[in-house]
Amino acid sequence: MTDVRSDDRPTESLRDRIATELGRARDRSVRLTEAVDDDDLVRQHSPIMSPLVWDLAHIGNQEELWLLRDVGGRTPVRQDIDELYDAFKHPRKDRPALPLLGPTEARRYVGTVRDKVFDLLDGVRFEGRRLVTDGFAFGMIAQHEQQHDETMLATHQLRAGPPVLSAPPPPPSVRPVGAEVLVPAGRFTMGTSTDPWALDNERPGHPVDLPAYVIDAAPVTNAAYLAFVDDGGYADPRWWSGPGWQHRSSAGLTAPMHWRRDGTGWGCTRFGRYAPLVPDEPVVHVGYHEAEAYAAWAGKRLPTEAEWEKAARWDPVSGRSRRYPWGDEDPTPEHANLGQRHLAPAPVGAYPAGASPLGVHQLIGDVWEWTASPFLGYPGFAAFPYREYSEVFFGSDYRVLRGGSFGTDPVACRGTFRNWDLPIRRQIFSGFRCARDARPDETA
Ligand SMILES: [Fe+2]
Repeated sequence: MTDVRSDDRPTESLRDRIATELGRARDRSVRLTEAVDDDDLVRQHSPIMSPLVWDLAHIGNQEELWLLRDVGGRTPVRQDIDELYDAFKHPRKDRPALPLLGPTEARRYVGTVRDKVFDLLDGVRFEGRRLVTDGFAFGMIAQHEQQHDETMLATHQLRAGPPVLSAPPPPPSVRPVGAEVLVPAGRFTMGTSTDPWALDNERPGHPVDLPAYVIDAAPVTNAAYLAFVDDGGYADPRWWSGPGWQHRSSAGLTAPMHWRRDGTGWGCTRFGRYAPLVPDEPVVHVGYHEAEAYAAWAGKRLPTEAEWEKAARWDPVSGRSRRYPWGDEDPTPEHANLGQRHLAPAPVGAYPAGASPLGVHQLIGDVWEWTASPFLGYPGFAAFPYREYSEVFFGSDYRVLRGGSFGTDPVACRGTFRNWDLPIRRQIFSGFRCARDARPDETA
């Protein structure tokens, strides 16, 4: 473009940002799918995961449905495959038996869709429909691809065989972090009405009043969790809820997923490599039931979603809620362990620049954090752009996780971002921190 008027600049920078985000997501999808051979791509590595080649073509199909057909009004590329890649039509366990596109066809398909999307992006106007205002649909699709990339990374973690992914280790701890932080009583704004790429379940912003509470200054570490294991925590029903104990018994749980006893100690396998546990690293691959049991054993509880978000966003000086614990600016590598730059959570104390004003560390990145809250719509919730994004999952079956993991891309991670999963799930990069009510002597 040679003739850009000054009032076109915001639009042009939005176009550039969208192109960058779509490109970054695609680079990651390519890395994750080219790391393995075709046999590995079409195989199901676990009944709770899709074959990687399903994720790949599903990414392209959603991009085609929303951007090419809905936003662009273009003729379909492959209408015949819509049904195959509809996540609601086929549970993950059934996907390998479907007549899916093979690796070559899937790659060609997502490439064709992307070429047409870039063509559309060149001329699209970001006005007139809510779907395109501020580039929302493009932002939604970039987030969707990155979310599937994180799911594909979780599939890699479940895959047997020699390691195929590598990354530098996360940064070391650079300063000690205290045990707990007191969050004073009062009102804060939860959710957002203004973040342009926030999804429907993060909206609208609304006031929430909380009594004073205390929250862990960092996620629960391997060392702390090991004390629970060593104390017989998995064998003592006192610490578990009824459904938690039932699941622990029927599934035979004795430790976090991927942990293995190694002589007198413990280690864990990560993307095909076995190593002793790192004591000050946040524990990962625990389900909600395990997190809840640990918290009871520790004399605490899991934070509610509102407590997690107030600790992450509330600025006691201005009284307003920030986009991130450190402020409103997008994450940099100094703030948080995001974006698959590393293949593990970082030890506690590795990201002092990412701490919240109250001194709560590593809320963003490292591990998704289970909260006590079921997944529900906020007051005034309105499904957008479709009910299946969030609303059909509302209810007590799911628990909310917050903050993103080392495998979450920054585009799909904010102080308001909400993830949800079943309480038994632990193949995701999930950990937790604890909270408790403040004692009267702490608030006097
Ligand atoms: Fe999807």
